[in-house]
Amino acid sequence: MKTCLITGGCGFIGSTLINRLLGRGGIKVINLDLLTYAGDIDNLGEAESDPNYVFAQADIVDTETVESIFENYDIDAVINFAAETHLDRSVKNPVIFGRTNSIGALNVLNVAKRAWEGKGGFKKGAVFIQISTDEVYGALGPTGLFLEGSSIDPRSPYSASKASADVFVQAYGSTYRMPVVIARCSSCYGPKQHREKLVPSLALSALDRKPVQVYGEGLQSRDWIYVDDLCEAIEAIMDSGKANEIYNIGANAEISYKDLVYFIIGRVRPGEENDLVLHSPERRGYWRRFAVDTSKITKELGWTAKTPFSDGFDRTLEWLERSRHRI
Ligand SMILES: NC(=O)c1ccc[n+]([C@@H]2O[C@H](COP(=O)([O-])OP(=O)(O)OC[C@H]3O[C@@H](n4cnc5c(N)ncnc54)[C@H](O)[C@@H]3O)[C@@H](O)[C@H]2O)c1
Repeated sequence: MKTCLITGGCGFIGSTLINRLLGRGGIKVINLDLLTYAGDIDNLGEAESDPNYVFAQADIVDTETVESIFENYDIDAVINFAAETHLDRSVKNPVIFGRTNSIGALNVLNVAKRAWEGKGGFKKGAVFIQISTDEVYGALGPTGLFLEGSSIDPRSPYSASKASADVFVQAYGSTYRMPVVIARCSSCYGPKQHREKLVPSLALSALDRKPVQVYGEGLQSRDWIYVDDLCEAIEAIMDSGKANEIYNIGANAEISYKDLVYFIIGRVRPGEENDLVLHSPERRGYWRRFAVDTSKITKELGWTAKTPFSDGFDRTLEWLERSRHRI
């Protein structure tokens, strides 16, 4: 049986992956999570009783604790999700983003290297998977897509901290020949996402009949991927990804901000769109487009996203309506 260390497993994507892996069977999961405001132990309610699940509340920056996990368990794979993830918070308080997203990732990477490195090379089958974001590439103009070989050009403290981790991971791959993979994911949505993020916050505003602002034409756009599709892509990388590669993960489902707002309000409060959308003049420098080319992961690992945004949103809304009293 393989043993996998998942950091940040009480968050949105990490908890979804852990529940999927335990459901699949044949894998032991060690979840290391600090339980910041973004982590929710209830995301793993069913896992608690699974003998193949272990939870450790700890900080990824804490070397001794991460080392003790490698001493106590024979770890085959690390998937590093743990991060500060809210862009607006990174603008207000960038230092914690550098601490967790850059130094924390480097710390886990370095402990894994020391644990896996032997006289004959690295432990057979071991892999360190860094969960990164398409935001490290910067923003696109109206056309084109980012490829895995595109240069990085982060534009926010959040994306700078994630890019810095990516660069360390690549450096460990080339300096020590450590088996590492970077997954650069587009914007994700689904059940269990923190209410501060765009899709749940728009849905909650619509449920509460709170108006939402659209600036100018609202053309800034993102490629939205449903969380189970993203986790399926990470599983494909765990199963058959090649070491020292970068894989873009996206859904080829770009939606402009304005279309997203109208879609969500129309779904939650049909016919009330014109009352609940407020239009304001364009904010300077706010035009942004993020989208990745996913042909590499499709060609090499046979993965493509399957869930249309409307289906994924309905599942997200159903969860939000059920859980809004406690999130
Ligand atoms: N959500 C998205 O749209 C998206 C898109 C691309 C990439 N990503 C990346 O995927 C990963 C997971 O994103 P998410 O949306 O699930 O995040 P999230 O904010 O929901 O969860 C982050 C988790 O990390 C934990 N954590 C934070 N600091 C920690 C620390 N110092 N030590 C240990 N644990 C710590 C939190 O407690 C939380 O459980 C992140 O690395 C993020 O950059 C997310």
